Amino acid sequence: MPAHAVKTRNDSYTCYVERGILARVHSFLPANHGKLFIVTTEDVWKLHGHQLTGQFPFDVLFFPGGEERKRLSAVEALADQMLAQGADRSSIVIAFGGGIVGDLGGFLAASFMRGIPVIQVPTTLLAQVDASIGGKTGANLAGGKNLIGAFHQPLAVLADPDVLRTLPAREYNAGLFEVLKTGVIRSPELFALLTTRRDEVLAQQPEIVERIISESVRIKCEVVTADEKESDLRRILNFGHTIGHALEAETNYSRFLHGEAVSFGMCAATFLACSTGFLDPTTSVKIQDAITMYGPIPSTQGINATSLLVRLAKDKKTIQGSVHFVLPTSIGSVKITSGIAEDQVLGAIEAALA
Ligand SMILES: NC(=O)c1ccc[n+]([C@@H]2O[C@H](COP(=O)([O-])OP(=O)(O)OC[C@H]3O[C@@H](n4cnc5c(N)ncnc54)[C@H](O)[C@@H]3O)[C@@H](O)[C@H]2O)c1
Ligand SMILES: [Zn+2]
Repeated sequence: MPAHAVKTRNDSYTCYVERGILARVHSFLPANHGKLFIVTTEDVWKLHGHQLTGQFPFDVLFFPGGEERKRLSAVEALADQMLAQGADRSSIVIAFGGGIVGDLGGFLAASFMRGIPVIQVPTTLLAQVDASIGGKTGANLAGGKNLIGAFHQPLAVLADPDVLRTLPAREYNAGLFEVLKTGVIRSPELFALLTTRRDEVLAQQPEIVERIISESVRIKCEVVTADEKESDLRRILNFGHTIGHALEAETNYSRFLHGEAVSFGMCAATFLACSTGFLDPTTSVKIQDAITMYGPIPSTQGINATSLLVRLAKDKKTIQGSVHFVLPTSIGSVKITSGIAEDQVLGAIEAALA
């Protein structure tokens, strides 16, 4: 059973990737816990809730889902319900859903009575390989995504690859771009799996899906362990995200799924790595081909390169006024760099838009 450990200054926990683990959630509950609250969405509950039913007594708290509802008001409504249903400091939250449920349920747990434990049970590919690990929780503000939140590490992360069978293909594919990102930044093995076994990956052949999730989880755990709060190493996970975030914002978070925007961002960052001499042209083509293999993403028609450049400056990951880029230097390694000339960045965005 693939299991990977995260160790931070104050917490340590295990992330499990295992077919059928949903039937064993009860075995991960600590002794002497109080009431259990499962935070989920109706769609996930209808499809997979029966796998939790009967394992332990719990209350289900439904969240309507959707990025526009990932707000503090939703956290407050859930906390009010918990209190009305008898929650106290010994209660535990089980966040059972995609990244939105994980972020919101995690933040609910981080703030309810100043903090109760959360178990993350991610049900999308993106949440399994990325969002559920590392303790970032939070909600959106009117002024931007994820601008309010807290670090709150889970008790455990339980990822069951079987639940992904019901995921819409577009959501699955978008998650694959985060897997590809992980390959490019730190795992030639993962990159090779994705590029040599594409058809099996897309067809969700069980053994290969488990391998790519497990390898992605392993790397996320390793990076988070080395750097809990995104000061340095953790920033390598932002490969494709600087320009990806600009694209998401430019299109009002409505045209592209997050992973699709990251795909575009990786394409632009790879062009940039090549034009600035960090990456050789042959490897650059290999990475671009891998991105194309898992496309296409929705059309970027009508999007202006200069507008994206202007948005980059507003990205919250901008540090003291200069935009940092995570650029591949080979397959499996990246370099974080700043101070790249604007016209070079513009050229890379234009190349990605072409
Ligand atoms: N905390 C972090 O480190 C981190 C990292 C990356 C992303 N995120 C956050 O994650 C969120 C995106 O997460 P997401 O991509 O999982 O989107 P999501 O949570 O909106 O889930 C996508 C859709 O799939 C449905 N769904 C979930 N599991 C399903 C299943 N097994 N079968 C069928 N349908 C299912 C959901 O109800 C939803 O409609 C964003 O808000 C982003 O900010 C957080
Ligand atoms: Zn991402």
